[in-house]
Amino acid sequence: MAQKKGLFLTLEGLDGAGKSTHVPWLVQALSSRNINVLSTREPGGTPLGEQLRDMLLNQPMTLKAETLLMFAARAEHLETVIKPALAKGQWVLCDRFTDATFAYQGGGRQLGGAAVNTLEAWLHPDLQPDCTWFFDVPLNVARERLAQSRDLDRFEKEGADFFERTRAAYHQRARQFPSRIRVIDSARSIVDIQTDLAGQLDALLAQWNSGT
Ligand SMILES: Nc1ncnc2c1ncn2[C@@H]1O[C@H](COP(=O)(O)OP(=O)(O)OP(=O)(O)O)[C@@H](O)[C@H]1O
Ligand SMILES: [Mg+2]
Repeated sequence: MAQKKGLFLTLEGLDGAGKSTHVPWLVQALSSRNINVLSTREPGGTPLGEQLRDMLLNQPMTLKAETLLMFAARAEHLETVIKPALAKGQWVLCDRFTDATFAYQGGGRQLGGAAVNTLEAWLHPDLQPDCTWFFDVPLNVARERLAQSRDLDRFEKEGADFFERTRAAYHQRARQFPSRIRVIDSARSIVDIQTDLAGQLDALLAQWNSGT
Protein backbone atom coordinates (compact mmCIF):
# COMPACT_ATOMS: atom_id res chain seq x y z
CA MET A 1 0.00 0.00 0.00
CA ALA A 2 1.28 3.45 -0.87
CA GLN A 3 2.35 5.66 2.01
CA LYS A 4 -0.40 8.06 3.00
CA LYS A 5 0.80 11.64 2.51
CA GLY A 6 1.14 13.87 5.55
CA LEU A 7 -0.84 17.05 5.97
CA PHE A 8 0.65 20.43 5.15
CA LEU A 9 -0.24 23.08 7.75
CA THR A 10 0.76 26.72 7.44
CA LEU A 11 0.71 29.69 9.82
CA GLU A 12 0.04 33.16 8.48
CA GLY A 13 -0.51 36.66 9.79
CA LEU A 14 1.13 40.03 10.31
CA ASP A 15 4.47 40.41 12.04
CA GLY A 16 3.76 40.22 15.75
CA ALA A 17 0.38 38.51 15.30
CA GLY A 18 1.61 35.54 17.33
CA LYS A 19 2.32 32.79 14.78
CA SER A 20 5.67 31.53 16.04
CA THR A 21 4.44 31.55 19.63
CA HIS A 22 2.29 28.54 18.77
CA VAL A 23 4.90 26.53 16.86
CA PRO A 24 6.45 24.62 19.81
CA TRP A 25 2.98 24.02 21.24
CA LEU A 26 1.65 22.71 17.91
CA VAL A 27 4.67 20.41 17.49
CA GLN A 28 4.06 19.03 20.97
CA ALA A 29 0.31 18.71 20.40
CA LEU A 30 0.89 16.78 17.17
CA SER A 31 3.62 14.58 18.66
CA SER A 32 1.37 13.67 21.56
CA ARG A 33 -1.20 12.56 18.97
CA ASN A 34 1.50 10.27 17.46
CA ILE A 35 2.03 12.45 14.42
CA ASN A 36 5.53 12.74 13.04
CA VAL A 37 5.81 16.48 12.38
CA LEU A 38 8.43 18.58 10.67
CA SER A 39 8.47 22.22 11.68
CA THR A 40 9.94 24.75 9.27
CA ARG A 41 9.60 28.36 8.13
CA GLU A 42 9.63 30.71 5.16
CA PRO A 43 11.54 32.36 3.86
CA GLY A 44 14.09 29.79 4.97
CA GLY A 45 13.92 26.13 5.87
CA THR A 46 17.02 25.14 3.84
CA PRO A 47 20.64 26.39 3.90
CA LEU A 48 20.07 28.41 0.71
CA GLY A 49 16.65 29.58 1.96
CA GLU A 50 18.12 30.85 5.24
CA GLN A 51 20.74 32.85 3.32
CA LEU A 52 18.00 34.30 1.15
CA ARG A 53 15.97 35.06 4.29
CA ASP A 54 18.84 37.07 5.67
CA MET A 55 19.01 39.11 2.44
CA LEU A 56 15.23 39.50 2.24
CA LEU A 57 14.89 40.75 5.81
CA ASN A 58 17.86 43.09 5.78
CA GLN A 59 18.90 44.24 2.32
CA PRO A 60 16.95 46.83 0.34
CA MET A 61 15.96 45.55 -3.11
CA THR A 62 13.40 46.06 -5.84
CA LEU A 63 9.94 44.57 -5.45
CA LYS A 64 10.44 42.16 -8.34
CA ALA A 65 13.73 40.94 -6.90
CA GLU A 66 12.07 40.53 -3.49
CA THR A 67 9.20 38.52 -4.95
CA LEU A 68 11.48 36.30 -7.04
CA LEU A 69 13.81 35.65 -4.09
CA MET A 70 10.83 34.63 -1.96
CA PHE A 71 9.91 32.10 -4.62
CA ALA A 72 13.54 31.03 -5.10
CA ALA A 73 13.72 30.17 -1.41
CA ARG A 74 10.33 28.46 -1.70
CA ALA A 75 11.42 26.37 -4.71
CA GLU A 76 14.37 24.99 -2.76
CA HIS A 77 12.23 24.43 0.32
CA LEU A 78 9.46 22.64 -1.56
CA GLU A 79 11.70 20.27 -3.50
CA THR A 80 14.22 19.41 -0.80
CA VAL A 81 12.16 19.58 2.41
CA ILE A 82 8.39 19.95 2.15
CA LYS A 83 7.47 17.50 -0.62
CA PRO A 84 9.83 14.70 0.55
CA ALA A 85 8.50 14.99 4.12
CA LEU A 86 4.85 14.90 3.03
CA ALA A 87 5.58 11.93 0.76
CA LYS A 88 7.04 10.03 3.74
CA GLY A 89 3.83 10.62 5.69
CA GLN A 90 5.24 13.38 7.91
CA TRP A 91 3.06 16.38 8.64
CA VAL A 92 4.70 19.69 7.79
CA LEU A 93 4.09 22.78 9.89
CA CYS A 94 5.36 25.85 8.05
CA ASP A 95 5.57 29.35 9.55
CA ARG A 96 4.45 31.37 6.45
CA PHE A 97 4.05 30.13 2.86
CA THR A 98 2.69 31.49 -0.44
CA ASP A 99 -0.27 33.28 1.16
CA ALA A 100 2.35 35.55 2.77
CA THR A 101 3.65 36.52 -0.68
CA PHE A 102 0.12 37.36 -1.78
CA ALA A 103 -0.34 39.42 1.39
CA TYR A 104 3.04 41.18 1.70
CA GLN A 105 4.30 41.59 -1.86
CA GLY A 106 0.89 41.43 -3.56
CA GLY A 107 -1.00 43.55 -1.00
CA GLY A 108 1.45 45.40 1.25
CA ARG A 109 3.84 46.36 -1.52
CA GLN A 110 1.04 46.66 -4.08
CA LEU A 111 2.45 44.24 -6.67
CA GLY A 112 -1.05 42.83 -7.10
CA GLY A 113 -2.00 39.18 -7.24
CA ALA A 114 -1.36 38.43 -10.92
CA ALA A 115 2.43 38.05 -10.77
CA VAL A 116 2.18 36.01 -7.56
CA ASN A 117 -0.44 33.79 -9.18
CA THR A 118 1.88 33.22 -12.14
CA LEU A 119 4.83 32.27 -9.95
CA GLU A 120 2.66 30.04 -7.78
CA ALA A 121 1.26 28.31 -10.88
CA TRP A 122 4.80 27.69 -12.12
CA LEU A 123 6.24 26.55 -8.81
CA HIS A 124 3.51 24.61 -7.08
CA PRO A 125 0.48 24.18 -9.34
CA ASP A 126 -0.62 20.99 -7.56
CA LEU A 127 0.28 21.69 -3.96
CA GLN A 128 -1.61 23.84 -1.46
CA PRO A 129 -1.60 23.68 2.32
CA ASP A 130 -4.29 21.37 3.70
CA CYS A 131 -4.98 23.92 6.42
CA THR A 132 -3.81 27.49 6.92
CA TRP A 133 -4.29 29.33 10.18
CA PHE A 134 -4.40 33.08 9.64
CA PHE A 135 -3.60 34.67 13.00
CA ASP A 136 -5.48 37.91 12.78
CA VAL A 137 -5.05 40.90 15.09
CA PRO A 138 -5.68 44.62 14.73
CA LEU A 139 -2.58 46.43 13.61
CA ASN A 140 -1.97 48.19 16.92
CA VAL A 141 -1.94 44.86 18.79
CA ALA A 142 0.62 43.41 16.36
CA ARG A 143 2.79 46.53 16.69
CA GLU A 144 2.66 46.46 20.48
CA ARG A 145 3.60 42.79 20.59
CA LEU A 146 6.45 43.31 18.14
CA ALA A 147 7.81 46.29 20.02
CA GLN A 148 8.12 44.11 23.11
CA SER A 149 9.76 41.20 21.40
CA ARG A 150 12.83 42.25 19.38
CA ASP A 151 14.57 44.54 16.89
CA LEU A 152 12.57 45.18 13.74
CA ASP A 153 13.54 43.81 10.31
CA ARG A 154 13.05 45.52 6.92
CA PHE A 155 9.37 44.52 6.69
CA GLU A 156 8.56 45.28 10.30
CA LYS A 157 9.80 48.85 9.87
CA GLU A 158 7.09 49.54 7.27
CA GLY A 159 4.30 51.99 8.07
CA ALA A 160 0.70 51.41 9.10
CA ASP A 161 -0.60 51.68 5.51
CA PHE A 162 1.62 48.80 4.42
CA PHE A 163 0.31 46.57 7.21
CA GLU A 164 -3.32 47.55 6.63
CA ARG A 165 -2.94 46.53 2.97
CA THR A 166 -1.18 43.32 3.99
CA ARG A 167 -3.91 42.45 6.47
CA ALA A 168 -6.63 43.26 3.91
CA ALA A 169 -4.92 40.96 1.38
CA TYR A 170 -4.85 38.15 3.96
CA HIS A 171 -8.58 38.66 4.54
CA GLN A 172 -9.19 38.57 0.82
CA ARG A 173 -7.30 35.25 0.59
CA ALA A 174 -9.37 33.90 3.49
CA ARG A 175 -12.59 34.85 1.69
CA GLN A 176 -11.30 33.27 -1.52
CA PHE A 177 -10.32 29.98 0.15
CA PRO A 178 -12.73 29.64 3.07
CA SER A 179 -12.30 25.92 3.61
CA ARG A 180 -8.49 26.04 3.61
CA ILE A 181 -7.80 29.31 5.41
CA ARG A 182 -9.14 29.57 8.94
CA VAL A 183 -9.12 32.95 10.58
CA ILE A 184 -7.90 32.75 14.17
CA ASP A 185 -8.75 35.69 16.40
CA SER A 186 -5.24 36.17 17.73
CA ALA A 187 -6.16 39.04 20.05
CA ARG A 188 -7.34 36.34 22.50
CA SER A 189 -5.13 34.84 25.18
CA ILE A 190 -2.55 32.24 24.16
CA VAL A 191 -4.44 29.58 26.13
CA ASP A 192 -7.77 30.36 24.42
CA ILE A 193 -6.13 30.18 21.02
CA GLN A 194 -4.52 26.86 21.85
CA THR A 195 -7.85 25.40 22.99
CA ASP A 196 -9.25 26.40 19.62
CA LEU A 197 -6.25 24.92 17.77
CA ALA A 198 -6.46 21.66 19.75
CA GLY A 199 -10.05 21.15 18.57
CA GLN A 200 -9.03 21.86 15.01
CA LEU A 201 -6.11 19.43 15.23
CA ASP A 202 -8.41 16.68 16.46
CA ALA A 203 -10.75 17.28 13.52
CA LEU A 204 -7.84 17.27 11.04
CA LEU A 205 -6.51 14.07 12.55
CA ALA A 206 -9.91 12.36 12.37
CA GLN A 207 -10.18 13.39 8.71
CA TRP A 208 -6.67 12.16 7.96
CA ASN A 209 -7.22 8.84 9.73
CA SER A 210 -10.42 8.24 7.81
CA GLY A 211 -8.76 9.03 4.45
CA THR A 212 -6.91 6.45 2.37
N1 LIG B 1 -2.18 35.68 22.21
C1 LIG B 1 -1.18 36.45 22.66
N2 LIG B 1 -1.39 37.28 23.68
C2 LIG B 1 -0.39 38.09 24.14
N3 LIG B 1 0.87 38.12 23.63
C3 LIG B 1 1.14 37.30 22.61
C4 LIG B 1 0.14 36.43 22.06
N4 LIG B 1 0.70 35.73 21.06
C5 LIG B 1 1.98 36.14 20.96
N5 LIG B 1 2.25 37.08 21.89
C6 LIG B 1 3.54 37.79 22.06
O1 LIG B 1 3.69 38.66 20.94
C7 LIG B 1 5.05 38.69 20.50
C8 LIG B 1 5.10 38.31 19.02
O2 LIG B 1 4.68 36.97 18.86
P1 LIG B 1 5.29 36.03 17.73
O3 LIG B 1 6.77 36.15 17.67
O4 LIG B 1 4.70 34.68 17.91
O5 LIG B 1 4.66 36.70 16.42
P2 LIG B 1 4.84 36.29 14.92
O6 LIG B 1 3.47 36.33 14.33
O7 LIG B 1 5.60 35.04 14.80
O8 LIG B 1 5.68 37.51 14.34
P3 LIG B 1 6.75 37.54 13.12
O9 LIG B 1 5.94 37.44 11.87
O10 LIG B 1 7.39 38.87 13.26
O11 LIG B 1 7.68 36.38 13.31
C9 LIG B 1 5.81 37.73 21.40
O12 LIG B 1 6.45 38.49 22.40
C10 LIG B 1 4.72 36.85 22.01
O13 LIG B 1 5.06 36.38 23.27
MG1 LIG C 1 7.41 34.60 13.88
